[in-house]
Amino acid sequence: MKATIAQKAPYPITVEAGKTYYWCSCGKSKNQPFCDGSHQGSKFTPKQLVATESKTIYFCGCKNSKNGMFCDGSHNAL
Ligand code: FES
Ligand code: FES
Repeated sequence: MKATIAQKAPYPITVEAGKTYYWCSCGKSKNQPFCDGSHQGSKFTPKQLVATESKTIYFCGCKNSKNGMFCDGSHNAL
């Protein structure tokens, strides 16, 4: 089963140091790029990120990145 493409572009999010984030890997969350529990009943699970510094992260929205939750440009080939 393939992940759903939420959008063919990353989500730029400013994360805060020390906070925990759960990236949606299945693409079905209504709260992209984060998990809202919609993966339940599928093989997908969210990926956890504990921010070590406050900065902008480009979370993958297409769910096809080869670099996990981080956009690696793979959306350009979809
Ligand atoms: Fe997609 Fe949880 S809703 S991983
Ligand atoms: Fe998925 Fe860029 S949005 S690789």
